[in-house]
Amino acid sequence: MFNGKALDNKVAIVTGAGQGIGAGVARAYAAQGAKVAVVDWNLETAELVAQSIRAAGGQAVALKCDVADRAAVDAMVAATVAQFGPVDVLANNAGITRTAMLHKMTPHQWDQVLAVHLTGSFNCLQAVVGSMMERQRGWIINTISTAGILGTIGQINYGSAKAGLIGFTKSAARELARYNIIVNCVAPGASTPMTETIRTDERFRQRTLDRIPLGRWAEPEEIAPVWVFLASEGASYVTGQLIGADGGMSIH
Ligand SMILES: NC(=O)c1ccc[n+]([C@@H]2O[C@H](COP(=O)([O-])OP(=O)(O)OC[C@H]3O[C@@H](n4cnc5c(N)ncnc54)[C@H](O)[C@@H]3O)[C@@H](O)[C@H]2O)c1
Repeated sequence: MFNGKALDNKVAIVTGAGQGIGAGVARAYAAQGAKVAVVDWNLETAELVAQSIRAAGGQAVALKCDVADRAAVDAMVAATVAQFGPVDVLANNAGITRTAMLHKMTPHQWDQVLAVHLTGSFNCLQAVVGSMMERQRGWIINTISTAGILGTIGQINYGSAKAGLIGFTKSAARELARYNIIVNCVAPGASTPMTETIRTDERFRQRTLDRIPLGRWAEPEEIAPVWVFLASEGASYVTGQLIGADGGMSIH
């Protein structure tokens, strides 16, 4: 099925790749032969990830970009194309939380989370899709969450954005199938800065672990192969799907 490495010569953009899951996915993509744009609004952390990829013999460039900013996204995609050529793979992964019970959530907290997850994913999709349509190839992987499948307390903004991304994935998959563009989404569960409180705070730690059938958190490296598969030729007949890489948390 594969000639050489799974992603040989593919050009991939991974957003939110300065740390956490995005960094794991960027490293896994590079290890499989992809040329990777390590995109984050924190250029310092993105640089560290890109440097570690290059030190390991891979190809990577760090690019600063707020995915919610359309002009910045267009510039980031142009820089990626200038450096590596047309984009084959887009991993929409950048994310934030702004936690508050819904009766106390500010309009700004609501807007911020939707802007990064939902509008950010749309901005990046639109910026790469024209060239993918022309070339009749492309792989798009959106990062969702069990929060968007099962609901969550104190994060109605985040749950809504992630549920929105499921509809986004399915609609894009249907619309882009005629161009041979593959679109899927992953619901992860991993030890990252984003999950630090629920993994370490005694008020949440055991309760959260009890909801994970496999009974533990994964490191980003353990789940990154799911993103590799969904960006590979092996996924050529898999589109519009939601894959849990969450220890079974989203079984329902
Ligand atoms: N860790 C988990 O268990 C878990 C569970 C469900 C979903 N997710 C999702 O996975 C993705 C990655 O999460 P993580 O746990 O690695 O989080 P993280 O906070 O460790 O990393 C997120 C990265 O995104 C970057 N970022 C945030 N907003 C950005 C923006 N507007 N533009 C560019 N970069 C931006 C941050 O600087 C950071 O480097 C997110 O979409 C998150 O919602 C994570």
